Amino acid sequence: MTTTQTGYQAVITQEVEAHRKAEYPVHPVFLNRWSSRAFEAKEVTNETLYTILEAARWAPSSSNLQPWRFIVAKTEEQKQKFQTFIKPNNQLWTVHAPVLVLILSHKLRQDGELNGAHAFDAGAAWASIAFQAHLLGLATRAVGGYEKDKAREVLQVPADYELHAVIALGYRGARETLSAEFQERELPNGRRSLNESIIEGSF
Ligand SMILES: Cc1cc2nc3c(=O)[nH]c(=O)nc-3n(C[C@H](O)[C@H](O)[C@H](O)COP(=O)(O)O)c2cc1C
Repeated sequence: MTTTQTGYQAVITQEVEAHRKAEYPVHPVFLNRWSSRAFEAKEVTNETLYTILEAARWAPSSSNLQPWRFIVAKTEEQKQKFQTFIKPNNQLWTVHAPVLVLILSHKLRQDGELNGAHAFDAGAAWASIAFQAHLLGLATRAVGGYEKDKAREVLQVPADYELHAVIALGYRGARETLSAEFQERELPNGRRSLNESIIEGSF
């Protein structure tokens, strides 16, 4: 385990350190969060769930419109509904997630015109969920592999809302509980180098 050069108290876990190297000394929370497919059967209390969604409430948004919405599935009945639109390869593991949350965004401004930032802002809300969950000792994984039209119909989502990802949320489970194919992929992954994402000045 190491601490960063900036004196943060938090440490990078050994498992993460083996797979992820920061090029600059970011807070360890950015490396330690990684998406899980394995979840413990342990319940996520409402206090914990709403604390995680509270973090998203404070995400920045264009004109402070807060276009994000969260459809929460925590009862067996609600989660089974979600499974009707999640694609089979994702059903295999999301079926064990204690909570599923569909992130939506309202596409329109108050004057009825398009809010061009609705998806960008919903992305900020998702990031807040992922990091707050991690800080509370939980894991998340976003799922884009689901049938949007079916989800819209099953959950009766109005046309002026866009559907983004389903978030699987819970306490990280043992890798061994997954199929062999998923076990192999149950690891913190890497990133391309920072300079491949930065365009200085203009393209
Ligand atoms: C919008 C979005 C959609 C995703 N869809 C899926 C999915 O359908 N199935 C899956 O197993 N993981 C999915 N992921 C998880 C990504 O593969 C994962 O976040 C990425 O590999 C980076 O790994 P990390 O989150 O562990 O850092 C999705 C992530 C995002 C943000």
